[in-house]
Amino acid sequence: MDSYSIGDLLPFVKASAPGKIILFGEHAAVYGRPALAVPVAQVHADVEVLASTRKGIWIDAPDIGLHTELGTLPPDHPIACAILQVFQLVGISNRPDLTISIVSSIPVAAGLGSGAAVSTALIKALALSLDISLPLEQINQIVYEIEKLHHGTPSGIDNTVITYNRPVFFIKDVSMEPFKAGKPFTVVIGDTGVPALTRESVGDVKRLREANMKHFETLFNEIARLSLAARTAIENGEPFLLGGLMDQNHALLQEMTVSSPELDRLVNAAREAGAHGAKLSGGGRGGNMIALADENKAEHVAQALIAAGAKQSIITQVS
Ligand code: MEV
Repeated sequence: MDSYSIGDLLPFVKASAPGKIILFGEHAAVYGRPALAVPVAQVHADVEVLASTRKGIWIDAPDIGLHTELGTLPPDHPIACAILQVFQLVGISNRPDLTISIVSSIPVAAGLGSGAAVSTALIKALALSLDISLPLEQINQIVYEIEKLHHGTPSGIDNTVITYNRPVFFIKDVSMEPFKAGKPFTVVIGDTGVPALTRESVGDVKRLREANMKHFETLFNEIARLSLAARTAIENGEPFLLGGLMDQNHALLQEMTVSSPELDRLVNAAREAGAHGAKLSGGGRGGNMIALADENKAEHVAQALIAAGAKQSIITQVS
């Protein structure tokens, strides 16, 4: 495709992508162990693309204070990279004139997949605007490339669960299997409000593993066992078994040094308020934790998290 004029573009389109939580297996996922993640619809990134009479591609992302023309961004800026990758894929040499607005309710650097969700929504909206159909597999691949800019060596689980927007059992470079809960269950999410970059915790775990390979491989194998047991429990409709597995997973993550006093405080508060189990979720060191709660106790657990210092809590159902 050579050039676009306004007539070739859809005048106005929008697309969204959800946040995510890792139920089991973060960090171990980077080393080829299985992990489970689910989308969180309560928070999302939303992108609107408007065919414009103003020259250029204008990006308006108030959440991150970005109001600029594409050409002012370095090509490895995650937003620029998403746009350029779509253009390259479609083979556009003459860029269309567009206004792109990006808003997101997913907290940044909080382990909820904000970067992957923005990239996914942006790519989906751009493809719609250009009236092309991109298979989810291709979107997932582009988002993964962009994730590498954010995180260095991501496993690919965040982009996968967000692009496909369904619960996934994931093994890096091996498989991505959607799964279904035999019985729905409720998860309460608590945000420490402490920003933490996944790139840093993943980098630290890499260094610690290199210094103590045997110990870390044992930790990862233990986590793999928990992820497999969790998948079986979820699919067999025995979610009550997940609480104990979450507690064990949190202890292993503590041993990996990726928890923090704030995360531990929220994990303990959730347990004391009657949750069946709790753990950090995502890269750790800050960001979010999750707790398994009976549906009728979830609000109580959410309030206990706020009382213990959480900046925000979300109640979500996995089904
Ligand atoms: C981040 O959500 C999960 C990590 O395992 C990193 C990754 O798998 O890319 C910490």
